[in-house]
Amino acid sequence: MVLTDRLSRPLQTLRVSVTDRCNFRCPYCMPREVFPADYPFLAREEILHYEEIERLVAIFVAKGVRKVRLTGGEPLLRKGLPDLVQRLARIRGVEDLALTTNGALLAEAARPLREAGLHRLTVSLDTLDAARFRNLGDTEVPLGRVLSGLEAARGAGFAPIKLNCVLQRGINDDEILDLATFAREHGHIIRFIEFMDVGTQNGWRLDAVVPAGEVLARISERWDSEPVEDPPAGRVAERWRYRDGAGEFGIIASVTKAFCGGCDRARLSAEGSLYTCLFAGSGVNLKMALRNGSSDSDIGAIITNAWKRRDDRYSELRGAATAPARKVEMFHIGG
Ligand code: GTP
Ligand code: 5AD
Ligand code: SF4
Ligand code: SF4
Repeated sequence: MVLTDRLSRPLQTLRVSVTDRCNFRCPYCMPREVFPADYPFLAREEILHYEEIERLVAIFVAKGVRKVRLTGGEPLLRKGLPDLVQRLARIRGVEDLALTTNGALLAEAARPLREAGLHRLTVSLDTLDAARFRNLGDTEVPLGRVLSGLEAARGAGFAPIKLNCVLQRGINDDEILDLATFAREHGHIIRFIEFMDVGTQNGWRLDAVVPAGEVLARISERWDSEPVEDPPAGRVAERWRYRDGAGEFGIIASVTKAFCGGCDRARLSAEGSLYTCLFAGSGVNLKMALRNGSSDSDIGAIITNAWKRRDDRYSELRGAATAPARKVEMFHIGG
């Protein structure tokens, strides 16, 4: 029987954060003033071991999950990640296994990840300007490293690769066409993302959001495109196909066109808590159950109860009095 929440949404996607650390400090996610190098990130013994993640994912699959995405923080900072990928790729029922990364360590990691069985890759890329890149990511990692990571990933057989570009007014909205051109020329699928009010630390302002309608208008001035019709269930991006055959692009409009209606996503934080919304105030501690000798069916029952109780639809309610006051930080549950 399909497990559904209070709004009849099935549980089908699991996003697994494997670390809360990152080698970038994008101000919209982990501003350096709030997260300095000596910030008390999770200690080793607090985060789930790979065997524990494997066991939990198998239990989630028994509850209906078909798509698994590894995230962070920056997931490639976690040692031996291909080992985890291999464990998850062999779980029967995992039909889609993907990873979202900032790309800094991809040049070395792409091939081992592919060989371990990773299906798909998404790389964050907010600018093609080297100096701007350092500021946007507040990082010493040069843009060239990400670009060579993308090449390595293509060489390792990941295609098409998705690019995630968070747009901010006055910061990188002048690069929409350059980024789209780059993606078209390299066979990548770029998705422009509306800057979201995740967490409580990223100084979000509505006037910094570049609305989906504007992105579409700008791209349409240059290229003809047509919408790709997707079933709404589970969909995050609205997709468009270029009429000249140069692939497609997407827009993730969580602010101006919320997509909670089909949201089938659960999130597992690095320390083993289950969150039923990106904007949730608290999670359900699965690590305790894992470590106190609970059986798979006990843990499955905790997941079932959490999903049956679920009525989250933060993006649809944004700003309303019912929105949770305390929100988990994005890097904690991997976006
Ligand atoms: P695909 O399966 O390839 O479509 O992956 P995805 O788009 O779900 O994953 P990705 O990690 O690339 O996320 C893209 C953007 O969408 C990020 O900014 C996420 O934070 C955002 N996003 C993903 N899921 C949700 C969600 O459930 N709610 C909201 N509001 N934003 C989300
Ligand atoms: N708004 C929109 N997207 C964000 N991401 C991180 N923080 C935000 C935010 N405040 C994006 C990252 C990455 C993806 C997982 O989430 O750029 O591509
Ligand atoms: Fe790191 Fe990604 Fe957050 Fe940037 S958005 S700080 S790369 S986790
Ligand atoms: Fe799902 Fe919450 Fe995002 Fe809505 S805001 S799409 S319920 S994660």
